[in-house]
Amino acid sequence: MFEHFAIAKGDRPNESCYLYAPVFPIRTGGMKAVIKRTTGPATAAAAISRWLHALVAQDVQAVTPLSLSMENPAEIGDRVWVAYPWVEGRPYEGSTAEITAAGDLLGRIHAAQVPDEDMPRFRWPDHDAASVEEDVTGLQRVLGKYAPELLEVVLSRMSPWLASFMTETLPLVRDADLPRAVVSMDFKANNLVYAEDRPVLIDPDNAEYAPRLLDLALSALLFHYESAGSPPRLFTSSEWAVFLAAYRRHVELTDDEIALWPTALRYMLLEWGTWTIIDAAEWDDWDDPHKQAFLIDLATVDLARFPLE
Ligand SMILES: Nc1ncnc2c1ncn2[C@@H]1O[C@H](COP(=O)(O)OP(=O)(O)O)[C@@H](O)[C@H]1O
Ligand SMILES: [Mg+2]
Repeated sequence: MFEHFAIAKGDRPNESCYLYAPVFPIRTGGMKAVIKRTTGPATAAAAISRWLHALVAQDVQAVTPLSLSMENPAEIGDRVWVAYPWVEGRPYEGSTAEITAAGDLLGRIHAAQVPDEDMPRFRWPDHDAASVEEDVTGLQRVLGKYAPELLEVVLSRMSPWLASFMTETLPLVRDADLPRAVVSMDFKANNLVYAEDRPVLIDPDNAEYAPRLLDLALSALLFHYESAGSPPRLFTSSEWAVFLAAYRRHVELTDDEIALWPTALRYMLLEWGTWTIIDAAEWDDWDDPHKQAFLIDLATVDLARFPLE
C-alpha cells in the first residue's frame, strides 16, 4: 500500500493512529494526509468518491480522496485503500452549537440527491435462531462480567426483542419502502472534525444507499460513542431535540417515517447497539470508565428519550 502511494520507506508510520483499524497519517505532495481502508470492490470505492465530490459541490463538508498521480482509491491485494487530506480542526466537545452543526450536516447529507448505480446498497440482515442465541449469550457474558447488577433488567427487555427481531421489528421497517439516501451509516462525533466551527465528515467509508431513518436512528443512539470529548452517555432529550431540529431544516420526514420511528430506534438498538455492547468487550472498552458509562446508558436506554415530536 505504501509503495502504491509512493511513501518512502523512512516516511512510513509504524502504527495506525487509531486503535480499531489501520489509519496511517502520512505526508504526500507536501500535505498531511491519512491512508485508510474503504469499502470494496474498487467500483464501490469509486462510487463513494463520486458521492463525496458531489456533496462538496453542494457545500456539504466531507473529505474527498486526494487527487494524486497514482490511482486513489486503489485496490491493493484484496483491499481497497484511500488517501484523504488530514483535516485540521477541533474534536467535538458536546456544546449546543456543535450539536446543532452536526444535525445540520446530517440533514444536508440526507437531502443531497446523488444516485449512483455502483453505490453499495443496504442489505437487510437475516438472523436464524443460532445467531439470536449468540447475541443473547454475548450480552449475558459481557454484562455478567462488567455490569452484573444490570444483567437481569437488560436481558429481560433485550432477549424477547432479539428473539422477535425477524418477525416483529425487521419486516415493519423493511416492507414500508422508506425513503432512501446515500448515508455514511456511521454519523458519530468521532467521525467529524470541526474546522472553523463547521463539522467535516472525515469517515465516509461505510457509505451505502439505505433508509435514511436508520441512519438517523444510529446517530440518536451512538453519536457520543468513542469520542473522548463527548459526555459519557447518549444524547439527553434536550440535546436530541437540538440535533433533530437542525436535521429537519433539510429533511421533511414522511408520515411513514414518523410512524415507524420507534421501530427504527428499536431496530438500531438490537442490531448496532447489541453489537456495540458485545464488541466493546473485545477491546477492553468496558474497562474504560468513560466508555463503560456510555455502554451502560446504551444498554438501559428508554427509547422514548428520542421522540420525533
Ligand atoms: N482526514 C482526517 N483528518 C483528521 N483526522 C482524521 C482523518 N481521518 C481519520 N482521522 C482520525 O482518525 C480516527 C479514525 O479514523 P476513521 O476514518 O474514523 O477510521 P475508521 O473508518 O476505522 O473508523 C478518527 O476518529 C480521527 O480522529
Ligand atoms: Mg471512524
